[in-house]
Amino acid sequence: MSSLPFSALLAYLGLFATAQAAVQFLGVAMAGGDFGCDIDGSCPLSTATLPLTELGHADGGGQMKHFVDDDGVNMFRLPTSWQFLINNDKEVSDTLDPTNAGRYDQFVQACLSTGAYCMLDVHNFARFNNGIVGQGGPSDDMFVAIWVALAKMYAKDSRVVFEITNEPHDLDIDLWVQTCQKVVTGIRNAGATTQMILLPASNFDSAATITTNGADALLEITNPDGSFDGLYLDIHKYLDNNNSGQNEECTTNNIGNFSVVADYLRQKKRQGLISETGASSSASCMTDFCEQNTYLNANDDVFIGYVAWAAGQFDSTYVLSLTPTLQPNGSYTDNQLFSQCVLEPYLKAGGSLPTQHTSSTTTSRSTSTAKATKTQAQPSPSVSAAADSSSSSNKGGLKGGSNTPSSSSASAPAPSSTNAAPSQAIGIARNVIVAAVAGAALF
Ligand SMILES: *[C@@H]1O[C@H](CO)[C@@H](O)[C@H](O)[C@H]1NC(C)=O
Ligand SMILES: *[C@@H]1O[C@H](CO)[C@@H](O)[C@H](O)[C@H]1NC(C)=O
Ligand SMILES: *[C@@H]1O[C@H](CO)[C@@H](O)[C@H](O)[C@H]1NC(C)=O
Repeated sequence: MSSLPFSALLAYLGLFATAQAAVQFLGVAMAGGDFGCDIDGSCPLSTATLPLTELGHADGGGQMKHFVDDDGVNMFRLPTSWQFLINNDKEVSDTLDPTNAGRYDQFVQACLSTGAYCMLDVHNFARFNNGIVGQGGPSDDMFVAIWVALAKMYAKDSRVVFEITNEPHDLDIDLWVQTCQKVVTGIRNAGATTQMILLPASNFDSAATITTNGADALLEITNPDGSFDGLYLDIHKYLDNNNSGQNEECTTNNIGNFSVVADYLRQKKRQGLISETGASSSASCMTDFCEQNTYLNANDDVFIGYVAWAAGQFDSTYVLSLTPTLQPNGSYTDNQLFSQCVLEPYLKAGGSLPTQHTSSTTTSRSTSTAKATKTQAQPSPSVSAAADSSSSSNKGGLKGGSNTPSSSSASAPAPSSTNAAPSQAIGIARNVIVAAVAGAALF
């Protein structure tokens, strides 16, 4: 007990919820690299669109700098795909393609240069072209090899976060947990010994079902030294009627679902990160999304952060857009949804704005006019229960700056004793392929 951080002690004493506190990580997803990814794990090369001016796409670098410098965002989720990393969308391989891995690294470096935490997201739904990893598709060894290669690239970057995959679904959860254990061991043994790793459950990581759908087994995964340090439950949730993030109206503030997850994590003495959630700018969402994020901040003993979906390659017409607007003078301004429902709940809970609050000026502007629009090429195949997204988001932000996650309460489980109630909610495939259109326009 004595080694626990003060915040964990407060949580143990039941004081945390009443204390002024905000999540550690306030994040935004920089979407684009996932464009075209379907929930069957196919991710066409032709639509992958890393939002980087240097690659001819949107000014993701300028957006991230703005979010950090002007808003205090401290985490970004950076979707890419297995196919992109190996530069082959036909045949699987366990070897990174130097050119495409280099492009992804440019994107990661643009993120790291802001001082934020940067989440690597292999946006493949635990699959490659309809084959489930370790379950008829690519072998565990191949998938592990990809992560080992990435871990070697970023072994020295304490602010890189490993998200094993985006939204597994319709698979054998026990086998998937074995796969994840091998990935964790591979990442750690490759030298990335302290970084955060997010453990994704089945049913698209849906908060509605996660406590009864794999969390128990996922939370048994350990580091090579037997500890749980840096291992967090990966949680996703939208607020529309089919948890797809495709509808403009919000029908829930998710407090019911998140309170089940919060109680569960307290009981388990573990923590989770909501690496994807999002809403539109409709009136219902301006209410529900604000309420949800206020709740997440109030329960920061178990929720270390939330990453909102999405900015990056999306333009302002995308239904869930959080993309800031470039002003003629070179600075970016946020939309109301971001200011009011992503940022404000964090600030009100005690999250901090950057110390030197300077208007960021973009050094490079995108000349690309391509838009990843709200045009969803097609709905995801309606799997039994899917809450997926071809989009991803990330959030984050370390209040306080640049500590490594392992050095603070981020790695400290918050003790508590509430029982978890099972949730029966079924997530639904959301998302999708926002990108076929956008990507096609870009290439
Ligand atoms: C979780 O969310 C789903 C879908 O929004 C809802 O049907 C269900 O009642 C919620 N569960 C709880 C415990 O609130
Ligand atoms: C740039 O323009 C925006 C919008 O008019 C304004 O809010 C901002 O203060 C300006 N920034 C600078 C550095 O002039
Ligand atoms: C969710 O609802 C939207 C809008 O009605 C629909 O287009 C989409 O196909 C639905 N998604 C799923 C997975 O049912």
